Amino acid sequence: MTRTKNADLLAAKKAKNDEFYTQWADIEREMNAYLEYNPDVFRGKTVLLPCDDPEWSNFTKFFALHFQDYGLKKLISTSYAPNSNAGGAFYTPSLFETLSPEYSEPKSKERGRVFVLDKTDVNADGVINIDDLQWKYLEGDGDFRSAEVTALRDEADIVITNPPFSLFREFVAWLIEGGVKFSIIGASNSVTYKEVFPLIQHNLLWLGPTITSGDREFRVPESYPLLAAGFRVDDDGTKYIRVKGVRWFTNIDHGRRHEPLRLMTMEDNTKFSKHKEVRGVGYLKYDNYDAIEVPFTDAIPADYVGAMGVPITYLDKYNPDQFEIMGITDRGDEYGLKLREYDKSDISNAGDLNRRAAIKLANGRYKSTYARLLIRKKTTP
Ligand SMILES: C[S@@+](CC[C@H](N)C(=O)[O-])C[C@H]1O[C@@H](n2cnc3c(N)ncnc32)[C@H](O)[C@@H]1O
Repeated sequence: MTRTKNADLLAAKKAKNDEFYTQWADIEREMNAYLEYNPDVFRGKTVLLPCDDPEWSNFTKFFALHFQDYGLKKLISTSYAPNSNAGGAFYTPSLFETLSPEYSEPKSKERGRVFVLDKTDVNADGVINIDDLQWKYLEGDGDFRSAEVTALRDEADIVITNPPFSLFREFVAWLIEGGVKFSIIGASNSVTYKEVFPLIQHNLLWLGPTITSGDREFRVPESYPLLAAGFRVDDDGTKYIRVKGVRWFTNIDHGRRHEPLRLMTMEDNTKFSKHKEVRGVGYLKYDNYDAIEVPFTDAIPADYVGAMGVPITYLDKYNPDQFEIMGITDRGDEYGLKLREYDKSDISNAGDLNRRAAIKLANGRYKSTYARLLIRKKTTP
């Protein structure tokens, strides 16, 4: 029987297939943005790269290369045991591992590994780099939630990785609990998770500046089962998948979040907006929130002082000195901003309306909008 592409995708999802690897250029662009804002951001710091694997991962290679110029104190990376990850389907031990005196079976499949680079010039060549990385097996499988990886988190100042998307919520909670600085890659729709959104609202977490749209390509192991659209094999036989809508999630400061978004007044938007929904129309008021509908980020009126419902993608432009985030219209009324609930026996689309912001149309019917962030112009300095 021939498997369909969808069946392949489904099988990968079912196997909790989190095995894909971030590209060097994506890491470099984001770290450069932090360094541009604060050239000493990594100086004297211990950086932990969990959910990693130096033989595959560019994170370890990247930070090992920059160990000296970033002024790192210590670099630690941990990998997850092959047997704990999709039953070891993607695992072939590398020469790096098998030639090491540390290597042993079945530890190699059952245990995670920890790699450390500190100021020890192991090969005495006068530089600290990836060749000085020392490793050993962990006691357990390297799960980030284990006591031993949590102890490494507690030793670290900064945690950087692309964690398993399937455990994103738990990973964020683990970082917050550890009180560390962090920068991690996740799916852009994670911003609406109830475990993530309040952190964004209270400026404890924000989006990184260097990925704001489009797909991202990640390298996948040779044995990756996908044959789906967005799958690419390069001339060397290296396989990649395209993942839609990813972002960096961080609490490391960067310049973009301090740049004010340049906006027109409400009057000018109504006269000149490039969007036909706004030009000559103005702004509609919601029926179930005390806020106006702003369907495009670049149509946010600069002089409006009340609440505004704006697209979630506004977060790519969010400057906490310019606007405050009051809530999101995506769920129930967790933020206490709703004015009313619609009755299902009166209105056929009440379910949709109650989940979102609603607009009353001229014909008396209601339509729901996309999920909106509710923001307000910041008045206090
Ligand atoms: C999306 S991949 C990214 C790998 C690497 N950080 C990178 O970006 O190149 C996520 C990694 O997390 C590992 N992983 C999955 N579940 C884990 C867990 N509970 N604890 C630690 N690592 C886990 C997977 O084996 C996989 O290598």
